[in-house]
Amino acid sequence: MSEFAVEVRDLVKRFGDFVAVDNVSFQVGKGEIFGFLGPNGAGKSTTIRILCGLLTPTSGSAFVNGLDVATDAERVRTNIGYMSQKFSLYDDLEVEENIDFFSGIYGVPRHLREERKQYVLKMAGLEDRRHAMTRVLAGGWKQRLALGCAILHQPPILFLDEPTSGVDPIAPREPEGSYRRPGNTGRGGFWQRPSRHGERSSAGDGANPKRS
Ligand SMILES: Nc1ncnc2c1ncn2[C@@H]1O[C@H](COP(=O)(O)OP(=O)(O)O)[C@@H](O)[C@H]1O
Ligand SMILES: [Mg+2]
Repeated sequence: MSEFAVEVRDLVKRFGDFVAVDNVSFQVGKGEIFGFLGPNGAGKSTTIRILCGLLTPTSGSAFVNGLDVATDAERVRTNIGYMSQKFSLYDDLEVEENIDFFSGIYGVPRHLREERKQYVLKMAGLEDRRHAMTRVLAGGWKQRLALGCAILHQPPILFLDEPTSGVDPIAPREPEGSYRRPGNTGRGGFWQRPSRHGERSSAGDGANPKRS
């Protein structure tokens, strides 16, 4: 077993002649929350999609829980939760139906589904809106629901792409906070957002603004 949750070495991704990820290297320790900061277009989402096994690297290597994403993408996907920048929720399903759907997709054992669903509804603060159509939820609520759906299978590693972008300003810490709650102890997280004024901007510079 690798000592790192995520290890990226000299990673390059080109789309035609365009270099989207330019020689990026970093490591994330197990249990660590890693902030991946950089301006729009820096290649953060592309790097995350490679780490989720959704895109193949042009060169370099990336390991998630010791698994090579280029050759073991199937197993990588059982080790991760992924909340994409544009949530993958279905707008025309009820809140509860989205949770049920993702429970099925992630292969949550049937006898655990009800308990996990209740946990997610509570974590997201959506217990009273379980029958609301997802499309009517404001951005921040959708984001909480998307986070909940990404952790239904209790993955050891979680990738959050801009988890704070749609959340109301008074609760910017919530996605990370949720993941810190009891029951999630010891799991790794990986989240990214564009850098804000005054922050260093680089990929994998060890910036851990929310490390506590
Ligand atoms: N599938 C693609 N084809 C061509 N260019 C892409 C593709 N995906 C991303 N890009 C480009 O790669 C660069 C990095 O994008 P992205 O990883 O989304 O950046 P970030 O998440 O840091 O804002 C951007 O210029 C974007 O337009
Ligand atoms: Mg992005």
